Amino acid sequence: MDGQHAGGKPERGDALVIFGITGDLAKVMTFRSLYRLERRGELDVPIIGIVRGEWTREKLLDRARESIGATGEAIDEQVFGRFADRLSVVVGDLTEAATYRALGDRLGSARCPVFYLEIPPGLFETVVAGLGGAGLTRTGRVVVEKPFGTDLASARALAEALHRWIDEDRLYRVDHYLGKLGVSEILYLRFANTLLEPVWNRNYVASVQITMAEDFGVEDRGHFYDPVGALRDVVVNHLLQVVGAAAMEPPAGVHPDALKDALVNVFRATRDADPAHYVRGQYDGYRSIQGVAPDSTTETYAALRLDIDNWRWSGVPFFIRAGKRLAATQTELRVVMKEAPHLGLPGFDRQSSPDQIVIRLDPGTGVRVALDAWRADTRKTGPVDLDALFAEQGGEGPTPYEVLLSAALAGDSLRFTRQDQVEEAWRIFGPLLEHPTPVQPYAPGTWGPEGGLHVPDGHGRWHDPWL
Ligand code: BG6
Repeated sequence: MDGQHAGGKPERGDALVIFGITGDLAKVMTFRSLYRLERRGELDVPIIGIVRGEWTREKLLDRARESIGATGEAIDEQVFGRFADRLSVVVGDLTEAATYRALGDRLGSARCPVFYLEIPPGLFETVVAGLGGAGLTRTGRVVVEKPFGTDLASARALAEALHRWIDEDRLYRVDHYLGKLGVSEILYLRFANTLLEPVWNRNYVASVQITMAEDFGVEDRGHFYDPVGALRDVVVNHLLQVVGAAAMEPPAGVHPDALKDALVNVFRATRDADPAHYVRGQYDGYRSIQGVAPDSTTETYAALRLDIDNWRWSGVPFFIRAGKRLAATQTELRVVMKEAPHLGLPGFDRQSSPDQIVIRLDPGTGVRVALDAWRADTRKTGPVDLDALFAEQGGEGPTPYEVLLSAALAGDSLRFTRQDQVEEAWRIFGPLLEHPTPVQPYAPGTWGPEGGLHVPDGHGRWHDPWL
């Protein structure tokens, strides 16, 4: 009995143990998500935070209250009280066996503990070995935050180290994009609508554009960000998931592995990225951020092209751009259709721009279909946008971390990344990591360096995001 399946169904987690509960991610995401799960009555397990000596349960509760409030969430004292009742701490050093023995005592008869590691990846192995050494990984699950390695070799080595203590099907790798409504929506829209699926291929699609623009900078995350950069921070993981959802074939069944197989297949069909289509940028002022090297060449902007060699996508470039301190905050998938041919209609101009299907992921989720139409106001043809914002049509739903923490407790591995996906991701982007192009400066508040604007050359231009 591995704590994973009982009667064919995944066993529910019966304790949540959080390593890194005093860290930054917990402050901005975890407490709020747990609180919201508590409010909806979806939290039914004890929560144990592993903390260092200077922390007490009371201090952690103060931190939790402060963090939840800072996210703009109004605190209902009854809900917070219930959350507080389930929170306890185990004080200890992560490198000492005594910490894991104390945790084992606290877990008592828990059959399926979920260990959530929101700690620097350099500590994953230490903690998982500590848990394993205390006999705590025989059942339950280990959930790890990104990054999973920094290249193909390190991702393999890390997996090997963790697999000594925990099987792949109980190792859940978080990519919070997999908890986003927008990513689920891409899949659902594609495969649930006969209007879309027949045109979602190289016969009708000219190119695909994925933009992840953030108008804020690296701020107080210099120490984390400078050794990482935009490509590793958001492209290898989050934006590749968006490519996967946009490009994969329908899964062959409902088992989580069927979806993962479909994703891995499209990643396998993706060519190694070519540095000739890679532009890196760095915003002016980045080097004076605390924790950033004064001569840093880390990119805060990346624009690149991917090519997928299969029947559906051959010849359709996927353009990706991501950057900090850009002109707006907006993440979207944009499918640009081929131009209509000669219209043959007297008195009508040719189309002004190709039809586009846009799925907005942030801020807020929505779908836009941009069509060309005859406009009575201008007495010309011009674009019309058919927009549906999900907040206005059924609501936005839970935040990604609510979805993921809930899924980890439920044993639903669908929204977590499998090792073969991770390896394909590092394989695809490997050439860009090995041969980084020179970093080009850009002014904050713009759309990045001049060079980035040319990445789609020969296939139109970047379309302005749906703001
Ligand atoms: C994180 C990155 O993984 O994702 C951040 O480390 C980035 O740099 C963030 O800002 C973006 O997430 P979201 O959900 O706001 O798009």
